[in-house]
Amino acid sequence: MSNVIVLGAQWGDEGKGKVVDLLAERFDIVARYQGGHNAGHTVFIGEKKFVLKLIPSGILRPGVEAVIGNGVVIDLAALLDEIAALESHGIDATKQLRISNRAHVIFPFHRLIEKMSEARENRIPIGTTSRGIGPSYEDKTGRRGIRIADLYDPESFRDLYDTLAEDKKTLAATFNLHDTIDYAEIRAQHELYAEKIRPMVCDTAALLADAMARGKRILFEGAQGTMLDIDHGTYPFVTSSSASAGGASIGTGVPPTRIEGIIGVSKAYNTRVGSGPFPTESDDAAGDLLRREGNEFGAVTGRPRRCGWFDVPLLKYTAMVNGFDTLFIMKLDVLDCLEEIPVCVRYRLHSADVTEMPATYRALEAIEPVYENLPGWHTSTRGIARFDGLPTEARAYLKFLEERTGVEVGGVSTGPERNETIVRAGSKLERLIG
Ligand code: IMP
Repeated sequence: MSNVIVLGAQWGDEGKGKVVDLLAERFDIVARYQGGHNAGHTVFIGEKKFVLKLIPSGILRPGVEAVIGNGVVIDLAALLDEIAALESHGIDATKQLRISNRAHVIFPFHRLIEKMSEARENRIPIGTTSRGIGPSYEDKTGRRGIRIADLYDPESFRDLYDTLAEDKKTLAATFNLHDTIDYAEIRAQHELYAEKIRPMVCDTAALLADAMARGKRILFEGAQGTMLDIDHGTYPFVTSSSASAGGASIGTGVPPTRIEGIIGVSKAYNTRVGSGPFPTESDDAAGDLLRREGNEFGAVTGRPRRCGWFDVPLLKYTAMVNGFDTLFIMKLDVLDCLEEIPVCVRYRLHSADVTEMPATYRALEAIEPVYENLPGWHTSTRGIARFDGLPTEARAYLKFLEERTGVEVGGVSTGPERNETIVRAGSKLERLIG
């Protein structure tokens, strides 16, 4: 019955890809609403493993339409690589993929601008994925960006492009950057790319409206996570788009009133890639263990992820700004070997209790997390597919998270495979996806 959003409740990499993959068969359309090829989840087609960055993983389900919404920024070379990889596995993207004509383009010079910006003296380095995401969104907000639709109007594309290129040349000269960029070649390349994707480009808001009118169901796939949201995240250590639930409407043109359910995805612990505050980070042997057991290395950049403990105040905050109906707790099995599991239950700052998520990264960096230790279960939960099949302590752990965050734990993942999953009987999750 409903259109549902699946999004990250922490700093990304929570395992949304698996959840979307599991749920996709119950929906007609999977739509991405923000971000670009900075996101990534590993998928398997047969034995072969590859990373989908831009294309919603719904494309792997025959008959499911995959939509890249207007809120996404698109590197066309990266998109064409993904399309080619899918085609080499017999998946015809032209049939299943639709690309918004209002999405903005990332050009190769956006990466250069990003490099320049990250390296600048007196600037806080964010530790971005270096994909040109931020600079492309800057051009969008600066109202000089180029959208997919512009590529099909050759004269205005040339005008817009040449003006943008002039802008970037001036910036590069100002900052003494001497990378050789062949702007004319990039323009010509994009004229070719545009022809290649032409059959997939359309007004995706109209497509989604039409689909809803015909009773079709949409699954919105968030990229990154709420704490990386440009407004609600740990600014400035965030990505440049609206990763939280509100972004789904803005980034697809589907009215908020047509979205009926919001599933928050969280690890049973916590990770973050790149710089920025992380109150429950465990920068020691326990963190190393989580990284090893959870194979916590970035899907896009391969960077080791910073690891730490489940953070109740953070989850309550992301539940507040998103309105989670239910939580999907991922990677429970990674905790199998622990004697005790610390969970942050509240924040203290300058010896006082903190009741609201601090707005500045300086305050967040100064947070002292207060932990409660929960008993571990010392036995494998790998592959358990029923809630009452979990060890008592694992159930107690999940119930603790549920009580303290105030959001039901509707789903639990106990391994990477589709069948290594629990959907709790009678939960809101079960009703939403039913
Ligand atoms: P950007 O999105 O490349 O601008 O990077 C901004 C911040 O978001 C950096 O800390 C990145 O590590 C982080 N980030 C971007 N995409 C992802 C993701 O898919 N998972 C986790 N972190 C991400």
